[in-house]
Amino acid sequence: MLAWSITAGLPTPLLHTAARIVRDELDHAALAHAALVALGGADTPVDLSADRLHVPAGKGLLADLGRAVLRDFCLGETLAVPYFAEMRRRATHPAVAPVLDRVLADEAAHRAFGWDALDALIALDPGVRPWTEARLPALRATFAAYEAPPDAPPLTDAERACGLLDNAEYGALFARTWAEDIAPRFARRDIAA
Ligand SMILES: [Fe+2]
Repeated sequence: MLAWSITAGLPTPLLHTAARIVRDELDHAALAHAALVALGGADTPVDLSADRLHVPAGKGLLADLGRAVLRDFCLGETLAVPYFAEMRRRATHPAVAPVLDRVLADEAAHRAFGWDALDALIALDPGVRPWTEARLPALRATFAAYEAPPDAPPLTDAERACGLLDNAEYGALFARTWAEDIAPRFARRDIAA
């Protein structure tokens, strides 16, 4: 994302923010893993493979960059703010609450980056507006697990102490955030969502 932003010539302040986001996310990953270990999960297998993490480029610079801005930031980071706020409001476990404090403090800046980057892309090419509008339904569908989470057992008290939200709460928060935050932000840019 940062490499694509540099190549596309996004404004320099946005590039510095993107570099900061890389550092933030590395910190979040380390803090989250430390919390997992503190909760007794040191031996939990982590299902990761480099091939699945790799993002193949290939639709052209603006298309690849635009998709990342929309999916990961305008949608992902904008959803993250209310989700982490709600999890932080509930979390009482001392290994978890400080992690959520840090993540929540950073996510608002990540959200702002996404909308500023979208504005920069629209300034480069106004065709980004209809391009975005056409892709939003498919991008929204990639968050189906937030909007309509699959069935899961009820949360335990220990899970609630870590701030976890149950399925109904997850779905309701998605609907509210889309209607009251995401759609209005797109509407202010003449993009129907
Ligand atoms: Fe983030």
